[in-house]
Amino acid sequence: MDLSTELTDDVIVLRPFRMDDSKKLYGAIFESLAELKPWMSWAHDGYTQNESDGFIRITRARWEEKTLFAFAIIDAGNGDLLGGCGLSYKHPVYHFCNLGYWVRTTKQGNGFAGRAAKLAARFGFEKTGLIRAEIVMAVGNEKSRRVAEKIGAHYEGILRNRMVVGKAIYDAHMYSLLPSDFGLVAEL
Ligand SMILES: CC(C)(COP(=O)(O)OP(=O)(O)OC[C@H]1O[C@@H](n2cnc3c(N)ncnc32)[C@H](O)[C@@H]1OP(=O)(O)O)[C@@H](O)C(=O)NCCC(=O)NCCS
Repeated sequence: MDLSTELTDDVIVLRPFRMDDSKKLYGAIFESLAELKPWMSWAHDGYTQNESDGFIRITRARWEEKTLFAFAIIDAGNGDLLGGCGLSYKHPVYHFCNLGYWVRTTKQGNGFAGRAAKLAARFGFEKTGLIRAEIVMAVGNEKSRRVAEKIGAHYEGILRNRMVVGKAIYDAHMYSLLPSDFGLVAEL
């Protein structure tokens, strides 16, 4: 589970972001700002490539600390950068974390987010001692909700004021994946 990690289902590859992804990452985010801004706090008008550089630098450092696993989603066929997916900040006592994803606008509708979520969750359960991955989306984010539903995540209900994006406060849907959803046994 070092920075050379690569996960694949033969359609996509997940691997840590590399510094030389920065220009492509910036391009993918820039093209997708209208769809990202309502749901992702880091996406904003005027987003710059310096921010992509900083994101990659920080996520590589966090990967080495084993606190945040941020993956680039890559097209296994042609190497295109499709988006990002991550497992963030496993709770030190309860061993759960958040599982997030985004897919660039021109590549949406191909099931890539669900593929990425499944690969990342399995990695978390097999390699990082995770016993629960939470997928949380603002009420109203129907595309994200469809992803969670389609991969068989378990719906647990609505959490009040659970999400903040910029200055907007949202109730959020909570879904979870467990090791048993992948035929794995949770171990501490
Ligand atoms: C949510 C998101 C990751 C889905 O990625 P994706 O790879 O397109 O996912 P899917 O292909 O499985 O599509 C999911 C749903 O989005 C909708 N959708 C996707 N592409 C669409 C398109 N071009 N036109 C209309 N609806 C579309 C469909 O409802 C689809 O469900 P369906 O397969 O049952 O029809 C992507 O829309 C995204 O990045 N959104 C912005 C960031 C975000 O909200 N991230 C999640 C935060 S919790």
